[in-house]
Amino acid sequence: MSYKLLNGKELSQTIKGEIKQEVDAMVANGHPRPHLAAVLVGNDGASETYVGHKVKMCDAVGFESSLIRLNEDTSEEELLEKIEQLNQQEDLDGFIVQLPLPKHIDARKVTQAIDYRKDVDGFHPVNVGRMAQNLPSYLPATPYGILELLERNNVETSGKECVVVGRSNIVGSPMSILLARNAKVGNCTVTLCHSRTKDLKYHTSRADILVVALGKPEFITADMVKEGAVVIDVGITRVKDDSKKRGYRLAGDIKFDEVAPKCSFITPVPGGVGPMTVISLLKNTLKASRKEIYT
Ligand code: GUN
Repeated sequence: MSYKLLNGKELSQTIKGEIKQEVDAMVANGHPRPHLAAVLVGNDGASETYVGHKVKMCDAVGFESSLIRLNEDTSEEELLEKIEQLNQQEDLDGFIVQLPLPKHIDARKVTQAIDYRKDVDGFHPVNVGRMAQNLPSYLPATPYGILELLERNNVETSGKECVVVGRSNIVGSPMSILLARNAKVGNCTVTLCHSRTKDLKYHTSRADILVVALGKPEFITADMVKEGAVVIDVGITRVKDDSKKRGYRLAGDIKFDEVAPKCSFITPVPGGVGPMTVISLLKNTLKASRKEIYT
């Protein structure tokens, strides 16, 4: 089968242009620029890269951005104080705390401390609950970006068998909820697989749409995928590679070379889901700035 790439890099450029146009029009009408803040605790290399992309993209579309760097040894209490300050800051539309956090900080407490009206990551229980009930909410950026990638490539989802591998709060769990919703992109019959799933291959081989968010490089092989499937690879792991100048290469969860020929659509890594995630965060921030979800 000849497959089509779900090109997130290209699509994100298109949507970036759309957002920029909207921001220009808002500003011309006297509306303040949307303002996003990102809190980065510690020096995790991948997190540094992701937050760097987020700030750069804010600049590119005309948003204000603030990067708040805190030391690795910042206490939970200090971080919670910072969050309270950001909750109160009037000129700030939305903010995120980059995950993972150092082990001594309880990420659940942090997520719940963020004012849900500024929670542009969509991780607060109010936003997750509203999402599950198909009410307006901020959608978690990665699953939101995947929905957009499917929609703009005219991938039919209604009535399809969809298998999501990985049940994280950031990707797998919200993805399974969103694909099952009665919505424009949705109406799938969804199976959510995880570390206790007994026969993973049995499930993945049945999938019309397969979304993998495991963080295990090249884990999904051709024998686990149905002919004609739509395959979404959320994995992006740094794998040691001395032939590269930076000492590593980026690997997805899918063994691309052998899986792609069986697919109708597949995302590349990099350049698939990643750029769409950043765009979705910007879309949420735009909604926050316009008070589209919460007044
Ligand atoms: N770490 C990996 N993905 C994300 C994300 O979407 N938001 C935050 N805050 N941290 C992440």
